[in-house]
Amino acid sequence: MAIVTGAGQGLGREHALQLAARGARVVVNDVGGSVDGTGADAGPAQQVADEINTVGGEAVANTDSVASQAGGEAIVRTALDAFGRLDIVVNNAGILRDKSFHNLTPDLLDPVMQVHLFGAFWVTLPAWKVMREQSYGRIINTTSAAGLFGNFGQTNYGAAKMGLVGLTKALAQEGRRRNVLANVIAPGARTRMTKELLGPLADSLDPEAVTPVVVYLASDQCDVTGQILSVAGGRVSRVVVAEPLGYFSDNLTPEQVRDNWESIASLEGLIVPENANEEIGLLLKVAR
Ligand code: NAI
Repeated sequence: MAIVTGAGQGLGREHALQLAARGARVVVNDVGGSVDGTGADAGPAQQVADEINTVGGEAVANTDSVASQAGGEAIVRTALDAFGRLDIVVNNAGILRDKSFHNLTPDLLDPVMQVHLFGAFWVTLPAWKVMREQSYGRIINTTSAAGLFGNFGQTNYGAAKMGLVGLTKALAQEGRRRNVLANVIAPGARTRMTKELLGPLADSLDPEAVTPVVVYLASDQCDVTGQILSVAGGRVSRVVVAEPLGYFSDNLTPEQVRDNWESIASLEGLIVPENANEEIGLLLKVAR
């Protein structure tokens, strides 16, 4: 039993179709707005739900916005009312309001944070309670290379997307003992959101080539949690937040920072901390 947000088109539609083809009953959520989040249309969510039901799958459409607590609760209620259970949440809904930072205004910032970051909170919160109770759940969030690595004109989007990484990492730690797993994908695909931006690469970036990772992460065969996976055009890789040994002084001064930049920036002794506590182990290793 799955919820896919923003499933009226693009990547979310593909996630919903492939999950349904593998036997999941799906809530196809989508407000049906434009790329910048304005407007609403019940058509896209209904069409995808119809598409699934026509070929013998089971889906219901839902048009609540993820961008409010009431919306998140209504989406989860739709799943429970229709299917009596909820195993999978794919937080995929998204909008763009790109602008250079010096031109950023609240109307360009608030909705982007509300849909991407708060939206994932609003849907996952009520879902989490159900999943903890049943000791089973799979959460898949959607970040972006723009958040992980930075992109010109996307401070709002990048901050929201990196926030989703923080959410996922903490959820993974809180959910592990009850078999509620949380991972985050950084997809690349030709959709209405990106078709202007991808240039010649667009042809090789089918949305269908992203979804198999989501289907695996959503399955009971998945045992990974807290991971960031980059996936585009058939290539999949783990993305890590890593930290090297670094430079150590028992009397650190600004001048030492300046003069030892090479050691500070060196990747020697790189580790990938599993959690915040593991990071402190580096100090124990390097302090003499
Ligand atoms: P899209 O524009 O085709 O689909 C996004 C869907 O989310 C739309 O159908 C829209 O109506 C829906 N939506 C927007 N606000 C909503 C709300 N408040 N509540 C419910 N639904 C809402 O875009 P695409 O490319 O399929 O994006 C899907 C996700 O993947 C987004 O989170 C996006 O940021 C992310 N992403 C996509 C990349 C790409 O290459 N296509 C790259 C990196 C990240």
